[in-house]
Amino acid sequence: MKYYLLLLTYTSLVFAGASISPIVVPKNLNAKKVSLGKKLFFDARLSQDNTIACASCHILSEGGDDNMQFSFGIKGQQGNINAPTVLNAVNNFRQFWDGRAKDLQEQALGPVENPVEMGSHFPTLIKKLQKTEYAKLFQDAYGQKISKENITNAIAEYEKTLVTPNAPFDKYLRGDKNALTQKQKEGYELFKTKGCISCHNGINIGGNLYSKFGVIENANTNNLGRYNVTKKERDKYYFKVPSLRNIALTAPYFHDGRTSSLKEAIKTMSQLQLGRNFSESDIEKLESFLQSLTGELPKGRKIYVP
Ligand code: HEC
Ligand code: HEC
Repeated sequence: MKYYLLLLTYTSLVFAGASISPIVVPKNLNAKKVSLGKKLFFDARLSQDNTIACASCHILSEGGDDNMQFSFGIKGQQGNINAPTVLNAVNNFRQFWDGRAKDLQEQALGPVENPVEMGSHFPTLIKKLQKTEYAKLFQDAYGQKISKENITNAIAEYEKTLVTPNAPFDKYLRGDKNALTQKQKEGYELFKTKGCISCHNGINIGGNLYSKFGVIENANTNNLGRYNVTKKERDKYYFKVPSLRNIALTAPYFHDGRTSSLKEAIKTMSQLQLGRNFSESDIEKLESFLQSLTGELPKGRKIYVP
């Protein structure tokens, strides 16, 4: 109980200063690198058996994830952690649930060589791509032969464009008071006063700090989160706080995809993180507010399978 009061004091202190800012569309990106990165992102040749592209698990039109609890990679293999969205990922302070990659370029190394995702091996992949139209495209964009660095750099440059501006909530933040319904405004008030904003804030409404999953009550997960990277006792069950942008589109929720219901996710958060039991009406208001975080989705293209 003492701890709970302490936490409430702590969250009130923190959320007094926490705020959310609208999505900014990046400018001055190198068009050749971006278009090369887009081609790579949708190309199944990046996988060992030419079946899986980045876009197989990160479907832009569906919110930038795959709407599955756990994704399927090559040879029908299933992973063991929920695919987060690539949309607005550029604004996250680290990449992956446990933050093990410092940026998008470092992140892109992961799936390509992950045996249950794309199962490639960079030296072999580079030889394979060097024999295709990519040789010229890389020469044009980078003035170089294909390398691990420029493959991941191009993908990261493209991912910087995958932002979702003009959500109703962003319009509201910019001064359009009619962009939110009354219910959504009340939901936003609850989001602030009940303490959600102490962890979910900044441009991505999340994505800028780590927090324990299960602050008040045990979250019942066997994934140790950030501890897997640091091996520090205090990092057990800590995860990167996920962005809540486009959250209405990215069920199932949590690193283990334990629920597909946004209401259920809100309930879980209120109990495990805040030790509160919200009324049904408050949960509906919060849900309605979260629905106002859906922005304009970027256009993708068809996955290329040779
Ligand atoms: C087989 C499905 C699959 C494929 C293919 C795949 N991903 Fe992912 N992606 C995931 C999963 C699952 C995670 C979460 C892994 C983790 O956190 O340990 C993830 C995480 C990410 C993240 C981190 C987002 C965040 O908020 O932390 C980015 C960015 C990303 N992937 C981009 C890519 C790119 C680029 C490619 C292609 C090179 C790719 N993914 C291929 C399933 C996939
Ligand atoms: C103490 C920090 C903290 C507070 C407070 C908090 N959250 Fe979270 N939230 C997290 C973390 C950490 C996760 C990821 C947990 C996991 O899956 O490992 C998360 C996940 C979520 C998710 C699922 C996101 C996804 O992509 O799967 C939703 C929805 C969510 N929070 C909403 C809320 C709401 C609404 C509130 C207020 C009632 C709230 N959160 C309060 C830290 C917090």
